[in-house]
Amino acid sequence: MFYFVPMINSSINTILAVTQDAELKAILEHALKQERAYRLSICKSSKEALVRLESHDVDLVFFDADLNEDRNSVLPVKVRLSYPRVQRVIVGSSKTLGTADKLTKDSAAYLFLTKPVVVSQVKLAVKRALELSELSRRHRIVSRELRLSVDDELFDENKRLSVSGGISKFERLVYASPKMADLVEKAKTAAKTEMSVLIFGETGTGKELMAKAIHFNSGRSESPLHIQNCGGMDETTLRAELFGHLPGAIPGVAAERLGLFRAADGGTVFLDEISEVSTTFQAALLRFLQEGEVKPVGSDKVYHSDVRIIAATNRPLDELVGQGKFRKDLYYRLNGFGLDIPPLRDRKEDIGALAEFFLEKYSGVVGRRVLGFTSEVLAILSRYQFPGNVRELENEVQRMVAIAEQGGYIAERHLSEDLEKLKFSQTLPEGLEITGGSLKEMVETMEARIVEATLGRLHWNQTQAARELGLSRVGLANKVKRYNLGEQGR
Ligand SMILES: Nc1ncnc2c1ncn2[C@@H]1O[C@H](COP(=O)(O)OP(=O)(O)OP(=O)(O)O)[C@@H](O)[C@H]1O
Ligand SMILES: [Mg+2]
Repeated sequence: MFYFVPMINSSINTILAVTQDAELKAILEHALKQERAYRLSICKSSKEALVRLESHDVDLVFFDADLNEDRNSVLPVKVRLSYPRVQRVIVGSSKTLGTADKLTKDSAAYLFLTKPVVVSQVKLAVKRALELSELSRRHRIVSRELRLSVDDELFDENKRLSVSGGISKFERLVYASPKMADLVEKAKTAAKTEMSVLIFGETGTGKELMAKAIHFNSGRSESPLHIQNCGGMDETTLRAELFGHLPGAIPGVAAERLGLFRAADGGTVFLDEISEVSTTFQAALLRFLQEGEVKPVGSDKVYHSDVRIIAATNRPLDELVGQGKFRKDLYYRLNGFGLDIPPLRDRKEDIGALAEFFLEKYSGVVGRRVLGFTSEVLAILSRYQFPGNVRELENEVQRMVAIAEQGGYIAERHLSEDLEKLKFSQTLPEGLEITGGSLKEMVETMEARIVEATLGRLHWNQTQAARELGLSRVGLANKVKRYNLGEQGR
């Protein structure tokens, strides 16, 4: 496949130098003025440069840190925020080294040069910085076009908290919690095998994202990944979607359909909401998993296709097996690797990292500059239970970015009603907090925490814990079950 990336619109780049240093000015002129590819414009102050930036298309700013200016009006930082596509190069002398170094970091400058600079150095720095701009521009276009199709960085933990670089950078698993780190390790191992994967997790925990990560980190990444939601579909339609059908075999559908299992030959099919399929469909699926056999609806012919299945469910499939609603053999077949994604409330360390990630994502989408969250907002986010998990956090951040003031921080007043309620929750001396909701809900939350903390302290010795809490063994076991408490690493 070819992607068309337009070349730079104009072959002349404008460079804005901000300096009062006659020697530097002379060197820049010498280095850049004779080059036909550059237009050099020199300003004496940040103020003057800002006016120029507003009215001209500038590609690069050369900033002299020796300028004696008010710290608050520091130009490169402003350029970074307001004109992020304009490259920044800082020049400093030995006496302003500290300031220049800080400025370089704060403004995410391309390069920091120390005086005296030489002509060849300037030429090279400008050339490279502009090349970087052009590459970033092309990268933006290509990643928009390619979306996920070349993404092999979904697992890249080195970049998990970074928001720069990487293709399709906003389709990446972001996490900071040890629970997710362990899970991702397991998923990476699963990705390298040919086994089926069964992903379990509440709604919005990232099951689909995990499935994509596995596919794009597997040996099948060059082949297609197809996604089928099995929920709310009648059996014939679902069969036709996956196994294909002959012309006229499906009422109202004249054309023949290949079906996703054959279309994904060599690749992966992600079956979402697998718990929802009928028992007859389960039998067909099992046959496909065992033999790779695909028989289109209305056809006697059997085809073969080599597909890896990743299935997901938000209902406990093992319980459905126990109730006879899901075939045991199919369950074992699908569960080659079982991955349980914990709800967000059980991995609160991820909330801050995810919130920052979504802030970056949505401020980019709406072209809005939002500086970050106030500490109060972050504290409230980490107290919230997030019944809709990561998706709910994502929606919340998206909404807040949309209503936050340009150039400001996301504050409590931007929170949705559900979260704003938690504003008045406070930490009690014992480390318990009022989390909002009805009295019964709050008491239950506290009860669950007390039971869990006691069990944890006693290394899950239930007899001892029951005695300490004044409960019977059965009474304690019921609470453990009801609140879905689990022994870490059991
Ligand atoms: N760890 C994560 N890092 C970054 N984004 C995430 C993460 N987990 C989830 N998301 C984002 O949250 C949203 C919901 O994720 P996804 O659709 O994968 O969840 P799901 O478990 O399949 O939900 P459902 O059960 O409702 O289908 C998506 O926009 C996804 O990109
Ligand atoms: Mg999903």
